[in-house]
Amino acid sequence: MEQTEKKKIVLSAIQPTGTPTLGNYLGALKNWKDMADGYDCFYAVADLHSITVRMEPAALRKQTLEMYALLLALGIDPEKNVVFIQSMVPEHAQLAWILNCYTQFGEASRMTQFKDKSEKHPENINVGLFSYPVLMAADILLYQADYVPVGDDQKQHLELARDIAERFNGIYGNVFKVPEPFIRKAGARVMSLQEPTKKMSKSDANTKAFISMLDDDNIIMKKIKSAVTDSEAKVYYGEGKDGINNLMEIYSCCTGRDFDAITAEFDGKGYGDFKQAVGEAVIAELQPVKAEFNRLMNDKAYLLGCAEKGAENASRFASRTLKKAMKKVGFLQLDK
Ligand code: TRP
Repeated sequence: MEQTEKKKIVLSAIQPTGTPTLGNYLGALKNWKDMADGYDCFYAVADLHSITVRMEPAALRKQTLEMYALLLALGIDPEKNVVFIQSMVPEHAQLAWILNCYTQFGEASRMTQFKDKSEKHPENINVGLFSYPVLMAADILLYQADYVPVGDDQKQHLELARDIAERFNGIYGNVFKVPEPFIRKAGARVMSLQEPTKKMSKSDANTKAFISMLDDDNIIMKKIKSAVTDSEAKVYYGEGKDGINNLMEIYSCCTGRDFDAITAEFDGKGYGDFKQAVGEAVIAELQPVKAEFNRLMNDKAYLLGCAEKGAENASRFASRTLKKAMKKVGFLQLDK
């Protein structure tokens, strides 16, 4: 990637923990694609983070490649932005160690995600799980990122990354850019299709509650058709209409229409018509991504080539920051 124009730098990462949902897509990944032209983007598949929970090695490998393919399938151009796999760029683990020594046990203990995950996996509360947000700080700070698009669940981690950066800079001078969260204008928060007060989640036991990005068209339509609504049979955004609100949000994100326009469009029509339209809009939105994903998955050599180039580009950038940090800390430098 050429650093000729002064575009702002964006970094984000996603763990390869299975196929993302429509919620992940509309809430995050679609924005990744939208930001790809206006910013210098570094997008990573965060496989180092994934081993904080025990994973089958073959599954990790498969899911990592699939997530990488999915990022390219979104239409993010790997020639214009840096799309890479975190474990292929050793600087992440190296800087994370340094930053561990500038993070207080107490502040890491306050991370709510650590507390939640410890409760969920009491048999495997490993040290990696504890320092997970420090690795995330390294991901961000290595690239001197201006903006980090994150969901609500990662805001506290970003806050910690800022604290670590400020602390380090306070001791050694300006080494790291202090990143800002990227708040999108109209953020999609897609809820469960079955319990629309809960966030849509791919780990939901009820598979009707979520749409996976790679679901077949007929499955998508079926899931939308069986989404929970209410008995009013009138399409508008309002209190007590969580199911309809959610479908309106989904429809709005897929078509670009606002809530007033949607209400007008379905004036005098029932939920059956509305759901049909939502289903068609979701299918049309995901169709090109699915097609490109399938095409790419048939060309592993191309994918691995892109991953290799991505890692080289990422490393070239990251190593500058790492070297600077190592020098500041006092590690002996070889004259070269
Ligand atoms: N922890 C993030 C998640 O699970 C993924 C992630 C890893 C990340 N490193 C990051 C997100 C750096 C933003 C910036 O969603």
